[in-house]
Amino acid sequence: MKCLVLGNWKSNGDAAALKTFLADFAPVKRALIDGYRTGLAVPYHLIAAGDFGSAWVGAQNVSAFQPGAFTGEISAQMLTDMGTNFGLVGHSERRHLMGESVAQTRDKLANLKENQVYPILCVGETLDERKQGRLHEILLEQLAALDVFGTADAFAVAYEPVWAIGTGVAATAADVAEAHRFLRTTLQERGYGHVPLMYGGSVKPANAAELAAIDDVHGFLVGGASLDAATFADIDRLFLEAKGL
Ligand code: PGA
Repeated sequence: MKCLVLGNWKSNGDAAALKTFLADFAPVKRALIDGYRTGLAVPYHLIAAGDFGSAWVGAQNVSAFQPGAFTGEISAQMLTDMGTNFGLVGHSERRHLMGESVAQTRDKLANLKENQVYPILCVGETLDERKQGRLHEILLEQLAALDVFGTADAFAVAYEPVWAIGTGVAATAADVAEAHRFLRTTLQERGYGHVPLMYGGSVKPANAAELAAIDDVHGFLVGGASLDAATFADIDRLFLEAKGL
């Protein structure tokens, strides 16, 4: 995949909301665009609850374990069973609110890979870490989980500065360009081919075109603005226009 614009419903939504969304979200009925996907990471109970058409359906998390005696865990095998196309790993809410470690994100990525669910690793620094000049250090620490991938494996990375998530304040285009350039060169140095680099953090129709115009931005991970079908469709359209897709 070259470019991805994906929504993340987090712990929001129910069957009725998904039904309305899928009826109203025009890209669901669109023919596939080569190298591009839009889609939605929904709560587990909604993954198999609707027809996503040509859009992808994803999970927001996955178990770090194999199937077995792990009460309450949803394994990667179960995601495949539900027809899940992609899985998010290491979202900042999981790292910071649930205490998820780099070792856990590594195991989760490995499980997705093994089960052919497209893995997306989320990385990003807190405001304090940024102020201390530790952006690159933090990104490298979190990127360590990628060592489960060989250079031929397909996966994406979402850069989501913690201070821009759910705050309404997106990172500036210059901040995003700098972080994405660092991620691209780091991944290139490790021998990976094209890894889609998504930006996440208060993406909305008002800033989507400007952020999509950045060369090293190959997609978005959209939280709040993906809850409304028309708003999310606007972001998808603005992204495609900016990239000439
Ligand atoms: P936001 O969330 O768009 O609501 O800031 C982004 C995310 O957490 O993926």
